[in-house]
Amino acid sequence: MTQRLDVLREMREQAMAGGGEKRIEAQHAKGKMTARERLSFLLDENSFQELGALAKHHTTDFGMSEHRYPGDGVITGFGKVNGRRVAVFAQDFTVLGGSFGEVQAQKISRIQDLALVSGIPMIGLNDSGGARVQEGVRSLAAYGEVFYRNVAASGVIPQISMIMGPCAGGAVYSPALTDFTVMVEQTSNMFLTGPEIIRSVTGEDVDAETLGGSFVHNARSGNAQFSCTDEQDAIELVKLLLSYLPQNNTEDPAPLVPHDEADRMDERLNEIIPVDDREAYDMREVVEMIFDDASFLEVHGQFAGNALVGFARLDGHSVGVIANQPTVLAGCLDIDASDKISRHIRICDMFNIPLVTFVDCPGYLPGVQQEYNGVIRHGAKIIYSYCQATVPKLSVVTKKAIGGSYVALSSKQMGNDVAFAWPSAQIAVMGPEGAARLLNKRQIQAADDPAAEETRFIEDYREKFFNPYRAADVGQIDEVIEPKETRPRLIRALEVLRTKVQTNVPKKHGLFPV
Ligand code: HXC
Repeated sequence: MTQRLDVLREMREQAMAGGGEKRIEAQHAKGKMTARERLSFLLDENSFQELGALAKHHTTDFGMSEHRYPGDGVITGFGKVNGRRVAVFAQDFTVLGGSFGEVQAQKISRIQDLALVSGIPMIGLNDSGGARVQEGVRSLAAYGEVFYRNVAASGVIPQISMIMGPCAGGAVYSPALTDFTVMVEQTSNMFLTGPEIIRSVTGEDVDAETLGGSFVHNARSGNAQFSCTDEQDAIELVKLLLSYLPQNNTEDPAPLVPHDEADRMDERLNEIIPVDDREAYDMREVVEMIFDDASFLEVHGQFAGNALVGFARLDGHSVGVIANQPTVLAGCLDIDASDKISRHIRICDMFNIPLVTFVDCPGYLPGVQQEYNGVIRHGAKIIYSYCQATVPKLSVVTKKAIGGSYVALSSKQMGNDVAFAWPSAQIAVMGPEGAARLLNKRQIQAADDPAAEETRFIEDYREKFFNPYRAADVGQIDEVIEPKETRPRLIRALEVLRTKVQTNVPKKHGLFPV
């Protein structure tokens, strides 16, 4: 037995050594941790249970028999994050560049299957050169195994992808199928085809960071939701993110012991809306004053700044926040904001996280490019997502809710549960200038003083429609409240709705307007 134990211990030691000292040094020299170091930061001490540590590939082409490492470039298993069970895989770039082949697929799929049947979140740490070239078509097929399970698990368990190094070719599609993608500045990138292939095919000269770095995917493409300054920052972020999510779709997110008074009213809220319509205010400040102290975690913070989405807490309970941001494009909805908002609604609905929507939106952004690029289809995603969401839905109109934005942003007719408005709300079909042109064009032209006639019409229109009371009159707004009352009112409403049960018409699936 002693001899057998020695054999096992030696094999385990080999597995712990990854691709060897030189490659580990090279990894550190790039400012990156090894896969095992990352896991030790992510998981609670002594909680990691590894599976598949001794698995090796059986490829013989291109001298691969000489390069058989226990674990085959990915570490898989279970552990705990702040006491909560999670499944993890971490690709090890020091072993054959973390390249992905049959054994990696078997190991990751196995963990995905166990995570799904156990109903626990799956966290993937990606750091790989993509499909293992020496395994040929088998490495392509291997991706299919993982994608298939990503899709099966979507909406059942939270799936988080951390991009900790290169993520090239087919490797990018697994993160794209998961709920959140977290990237690290300077050391991580994602692209379908790398700089060299792009150079040879299109002649474009671009480096990896400019092509697919963290900034690009967070701020431009929208493929990633979080950008972190370093790996440790990314790991801390993932721990925080998990705290807002349940283990799976049959559970509610665990509440925290509230550390902020439920009845707290911030007087500054009553002053925050500028008197002058042309002046903007920061919706982030509104959100921060209303939700539990320091609880707002912004999602997709660098993308579509005209919308603000994230998670926060109300009296300790996790909620999803959706808001327009008047400081960017006056808070108009455009293609990117529509994608950002609808994605967040769906994520919250999947995981039983109530939605709180703050509306200050003059409408969908007008423009030829917006129309050509499909703002109708993209804008419809918001409507589809709100209509389909069965979680408690609350809304607060802080200022403008004009035209399409009034209907699209969680209106009562689309299943909103409780609709509040501030006295500053302006709920109307269109702005006064547009209405003047449409309804009063002839009278204005015929008037002795057309400018005065137009001003008279605009003022009359404002007086009649630019308030919340018409909507409250007809029950489209449940209650007009003082801004400072928003926190206690939301907390009370959510208390009532905590037991909300609503099911949609059974069907295979609808056609989300993609
Ligand atoms: C096999 C690979 C590999 C791969 C890297 N390696 N990528 N081995 N298959 N895909 C190996 C290298 O040969 C090298 O081995 C070691 O990993 C480290 O790689 P380096 O190139 O030395 O590292 P670095 O300079 O840091 O560059 C990293 C890299 C580069 C940018 C990721 O390796 C690269 O461009 N790789 C290929 C990326 C790519 O095009 N992947 C797409 C594959 S096709 P040694 O022994 O020399 O240290 C695909 C399609 C799937 O994924 C579609 C599914 C739907």
